[in-house]
Amino acid sequence: MSLTTFSTERADAPGGRQADSPAKVTVPSLLEKKLLRRPISAITAYDYASARLVDEAGLDVVLVGDSLAMVMQGHENTLAVTMDEMLLYTRGVRRAVKRALLVADMPFGSYHTDDREALANAIRFVKESGAEAVKLEGGRERAELIRRITAAEIPVMGHIGLTPQSVHRMGGYKVQGKTMQAIDELRTDALALEEAGCFAIVLEGVPRELAHIITEELRIPTIGIGAGPDCDGQILVLHDMMAMTFSPPAKFVRRYADVAGVMRKALEVYRHDVEARTFPADAESYHFSREVRELMHESTEATEPAEPIEAVG
Ligand code: KIV
Repeated sequence: MSLTTFSTERADAPGGRQADSPAKVTVPSLLEKKLLRRPISAITAYDYASARLVDEAGLDVVLVGDSLAMVMQGHENTLAVTMDEMLLYTRGVRRAVKRALLVADMPFGSYHTDDREALANAIRFVKESGAEAVKLEGGRERAELIRRITAAEIPVMGHIGLTPQSVHRMGGYKVQGKTMQAIDELRTDALALEEAGCFAIVLEGVPRELAHIITEELRIPTIGIGAGPDCDGQILVLHDMMAMTFSPPAKFVRRYADVAGVMRKALEVYRHDVEARTFPADAESYHFSREVRELMHESTEATEPAEPIEAVG
C-alpha cells in the first residue's frame, strides 16, 4: 500500500474539528433537526478510510452497523459478529470521524441475556471504542434496558420493523407492519422506545404509510431504511449504495456508484500491467544516488577478473 494513500494529517481546528466544517453533530442537534424539519443523513461505515470519506462528505450520523458481519466478514446474516469484533471496527471508524455522530450497533447476544451484561457492553462501546451512542433492535421488550443504558448517560438509538437479528423468527428478511395488528404493535413499540429514552429510532422495512404515521407521532427523529421518504432521516448500508455487494440489491437501495465495477476494472488492468512487465515503470522506481552509482561502478571494476592470458604454444 502506498504510504501516501491516506495521510492522517487533517487541517483540524483545536478540539479536533475541521476548521471550515459545520458544527459537530450531537444528540441534541439531531433532535433540533427534527423540530426544524431538516432531514438527517446517516450511513454505515466500518473502517477508517470509508468513515473518513463519509465524515468529510458531511453526513450527520455514522453507524458501525452489525451489517458488517455480512458486508465485511462474509457471513450469511448479522448474528455471528461478536462484541470484540464490533469494538475493533468501531475503533478504526472513531479515528476517522470528527464531525458526525458515531453510533455503534450492539451485536446479537450482547444485550439479550441480562440487563447488567447489556449495560456493561454498552459501556464498553463508549470506553473502549469512543462511540457516542449505541443502537439496539427491538420494541417494548427493550424499554427497561433502554432506561438503564440511558440512565448511565449513554444515548440509545432504537431499531424496529425488519430487525435483521430476528431473521430466524421472521423467516427471512420480510417487510413488517403489513397487517392491522402489526401496524398497531409497531406504533406501540415506537412510542415505548421514545418513552424509554431513545434519541432516535431506525424504521427498517416497513410500508411508507406506517413510517409516515410513526414519524408524525414521535418527538424523536425516525431514520428510515426501506421505509419511504417521510422519515426524518435516511440510512443506507454503505456497501449497498456503492454496489460493493454480490447479490441483487433490495428494492429500496439506490446505487450511487459502481465502486465494485471501478475496482474490478482497476484490478484487471493492474494484473495485465504486472504480467506484461509494464508496471512499475522506471519513473515509479527508486534509484541509487549518483555517489552510490559511482562507488558501485568502482567496486565492480576493482573486482572484475583480469583478462585471461592466452596459452602459448
Ligand atoms: O447494521 C446495520 O447496518 C443497520 C442499518 C441497516 C440500520 O442496522
